[in-house]
Amino acid sequence: MMTSRAAEIWACHVILLLFLTLRGEALRISGMEVPRVVVSGSSVQLVCNYEYNREREDPLYSVKWYRNVNQFYEYIPKRVPQVRVYPLPNLNVDERGSTQATVLLKGVTRASSGTFRCEVMGDKPLFETDDKAKNMTVVDIPTWGPELTGVIHKGMGGVGGMGGGGRGEQATREEITQGSRVRPGDVMSVRCLLGHSDPQAVVTWLVNSRPPPPPHTHLRVLTNSDEENGQRIQISELEAVVTEAWFVRGALSLTCHARVSTVYHSNATVTLLHADHPKPAGFGCYFSRCCSCCDVAAVVVVVVVVVVVMNEGHKRGSLFTPVY
Ligand SMILES: *[C@@H]1O[C@H](CO)[C@@H](O)[C@H](O)[C@H]1NC(C)=O
Ligand SMILES: *[C@@H]1O[C@H](CO)[C@@H](O)[C@H](O)[C@H]1NC(C)=O
Repeated sequence: MMTSRAAEIWACHVILLLFLTLRGEALRISGMEVPRVVVSGSSVQLVCNYEYNREREDPLYSVKWYRNVNQFYEYIPKRVPQVRVYPLPNLNVDERGSTQATVLLKGVTRASSGTFRCEVMGDKPLFETDDKAKNMTVVDIPTWGPELTGVIHKGMGGVGGMGGGGRGEQATREEITQGSRVRPGDVMSVRCLLGHSDPQAVVTWLVNSRPPPPPHTHLRVLTNSDEENGQRIQISELEAVVTEAWFVRGALSLTCHARVSTVYHSNATVTLLHADHPKPAGFGCYFSRCCSCCDVAAVVVVVVVVVVVMNEGHKRGSLFTPVY
């Protein structure tokens, strides 16, 4: 009983294998690796692994690579030379670094992006084929930044918080630096600057590592052709009235976080101190004090985002050290 059942299974396998071979399903792509997003300037290895039925002779005729509809690479084992590269704009194939299963691209640019397709073809008589495609997007990331710069408008009145000084004072403007002293009611006008990127960066503002109350920031990028050195820059501007609720133990940290796709993110932070707090970043905030902080529910924040295009060198004074 067992033996006849085993024989049945064996026969079934043989028939299936024969069927697959005759149907031409013996050659197939077993794995393809194309990075989804890469940074421009980098080298990229594209991988196309294939497998075939070892019982057949000369299973492989060719491996071909295409970007969109254009072929740029070919490997034919029985030809001399085995590798041939077809030049495409913005695609630099390193022939020596490429094999039957891999293609090495050097110095990719934004324009190298596209749908990359690998096609394997078996030899005669069936010339069976299999192919797979994946998209690769090359992004330009900022070469500098983010950097924070800005001013504090003091004694503007506004929403005087618990510490609430400033109303009677004369309005002054003060450059923001690390450790600048501010008090509730002051108006902060801060800019986050970073180099050009494509696609544009998504900039998020954080107060004490949390998003500030809405409305959220919004970033637009314009190109600049008028400026002398033609540098393009991205700017997100946050304008907000400082409130008591923003302080933790007499200090508040303001962070600008910039992200481009999945391959770049960086932030810059500045810490400001409460002008009326006796021990900045110390032990001042005990329970009762914290509670009064919580009561300040009516937080008025105006977030304005302006994107300006300006000369990079021109704007790089008075900056905080970015944290990478
Ligand atoms: C590649 O991207 C294009 C356009 O965004 C899309 O239509 C296509 O389905 C994608 N192809 C693959 C293989 O992901
Ligand atoms: C800022 O960047 C540093 C280093 O990458 C990271 O550890 C930190 O969490 C970031 N902070 C914020 C608020 O995103």
